[in-house]
Amino acid sequence: MRIPLDRQSETPLYKQIKIYLQQGILSGSLVADTRLPASRQLAQDLGVNRITVENAYAELESEGLVFSKLGSGTYVLAPDPLLSLPRNTSDAPWPLWQQSVLAQDKITRTKLSDSKRDVARHPALISFASGIGDANLFPAEDIRKAVQAVMRRDGIATLDYGERNGYGPLRASIAHILGSQGIQTQPENILITAGSQQALSLVSQLLLNPGDVILVESPTYAGALDLFHALGFKVVGIPVDAQGMQVEGLEKLLQQHHPRLIYTIPNFHNPTGTCLTTPRRRQLLVLADRYNIPIIEDDFVGDLRYEGHTQPALKALDPGGGVIYISTFSKMLMPGLRVGFIAADGPVYDSLVNFKRIHDVATSALVQRALEAYVTVGRYQTHLRRSCQIFRKRRDVMVSSIQRYLPTGVRFDPPQGGLFIWLQLPPELSSEELLPLAREEGVDFSPGIAFFPEGIPGSRWLRLNFVAQTPNQIEEGMKRLGKAIKRLISARK
Ligand SMILES: Cc1ncc(COP(=O)(O)O)c(C=O)c1O
Repeated sequence: MRIPLDRQSETPLYKQIKIYLQQGILSGSLVADTRLPASRQLAQDLGVNRITVENAYAELESEGLVFSKLGSGTYVLAPDPLLSLPRNTSDAPWPLWQQSVLAQDKITRTKLSDSKRDVARHPALISFASGIGDANLFPAEDIRKAVQAVMRRDGIATLDYGERNGYGPLRASIAHILGSQGIQTQPENILITAGSQQALSLVSQLLLNPGDVILVESPTYAGALDLFHALGFKVVGIPVDAQGMQVEGLEKLLQQHHPRLIYTIPNFHNPTGTCLTTPRRRQLLVLADRYNIPIIEDDFVGDLRYEGHTQPALKALDPGGGVIYISTFSKMLMPGLRVGFIAADGPVYDSLVNFKRIHDVATSALVQRALEAYVTVGRYQTHLRRSCQIFRKRRDVMVSSIQRYLPTGVRFDPPQGGLFIWLQLPPELSSEELLPLAREEGVDFSPGIAFFPEGIPGSRWLRLNFVAQTPNQIEEGMKRLGKAIKRLISARK
C-alpha cells in the first residue's frame, strides 16, 4: 500500500497514516472486510517504525473503523453511514483545473445524443433508441470458441501488440470481402482500428485542425457530430432527401465554406436510412476532386440490405486516393469486439498507421485473431444472411405497426436495409416534447435534435431502431408510441 507521507509536516506520521486510511474507509474506496497490510509489512513499505503503523491501526480500531482478528490481521469494518464522506464536498472542492474542465464545452453536444441518461424507470421499457443490433442474436458462442481456438493455436502471439496496421490474415480477409463488393484493395491498404469511431477520429484529426470546416449530411450520425465538435471543427450540413445527400447544392457550399473534408454515409444512412443514388455518387466524386477535398465514406451497415440493388461504393468509383473508406464489425456482428477498419490508398495510409500507433498502440491482437478465425470459416457470411432475414421481417413489422398504430400525419420512407426508420411527426409536434410522454408509456426512441449539426430544438423528427427488438415488442412499442403521440396532440389543443 502506498501512503503519501510528509516527513516535514507537524502532523505525526502515525496520524497521517490513520487519516489516509480513515478517508479511504469513509469514502468507500476501502470496502468492508478488506484486509489491511500486516503492520510489519506496511512499516517496511513506508520506511517507518512498526509501532507507528500499530498506533495508526489502534486509533482506527478505537473509532470503530477497523477490527483485528487474532492471528489473522486487521480488517475494515462497514462504516456507519452517518460517518461516510461524500466523494466531493464544498469543504474539499475539486482542484481548479478540474473546475475548468466543467467550463469547457468540448463534450456538451454528447448530452443531446445521450438519451439513455434520463430514461424513466418504466418496468418494461421497449427501446428503439440504440444504434446496434439485437444482443440476443450476437454469435457469442462462436466467438468464445474462436477465442479459445486461436489461443491454443497461436499461444502468446495472441497476447502481443501484433503488427502496426493490424493482423495480416484479418486484413487479407477484409480485402477479400471488399473485393467481392467491387472495392479493389490490398491487405497493405487496410488498417484495423478500434471500431469505426476510431477510424473517424484518426482520419479527421490527421487531415483537419481545430477551426477547419467539415461538411456532413444534415442530419448525420450523432457520434460523428460529437467528435467533430470536441475536436473544434466547424460543421457545415448539407440536406438529405430520399436519394441521400442533396449533391445539387454541394458546389455552392464548397465555394462558400471551403471545407477540408466531406464526411458521408452513402448506404442506409444514419439516421435517415436512405441510400445515395449512383448519379449523385458520381457527382459527389467529381466535385470533391475538382475542389481537392478528401471524402470519408462511412459504410457502417453496407451489408445489411434487405431488398433492392446495391450501388457501387464511392471507393469503388474513385479513380484513386480521393476516398477514405471506413467500416466496422459493430453493426453486422457485435459492437463489443471494437474492430473497425480503414481502406486508404496513397501516402495518407502510412500516416494513418503511425497516427493510430501514437493514439492507442494497437487494437487487441487476441480479438483480431479470433475475428479472423470466425470470418474465414464462413460463419460471418452465414450470420449476415440470417441477420438480414430476421431484420427484414422486423422492418416489415415496424412499417405495418406504424401504419396501424400511429396517427395519420406521421411520415417516413421504408428503408431497404440498415437499422433505422426516420419518422416525421405531424406538424407542430416536437420529438423532444414527445420523449417524456413516450417513456411514461414505456417506449424509447432517439429524438431528431441529436442528429442535426445545428442541434436546433423542436425537431419533428425521431429515429427508430427496428432491428433491436422482437416483432412482438415492435408491435407493442408502436402501440405505446401511438398513445404517446395522441396524448401530445390532445395536450396541444
Ligand atoms: C454511422 C456510424 N458510423 C460509425 C459508428 C461507430 O461505430 P463503431 O465505433 O462501433 O464501429 C456508428 C455507431 O453507431 C455509426 O452509426
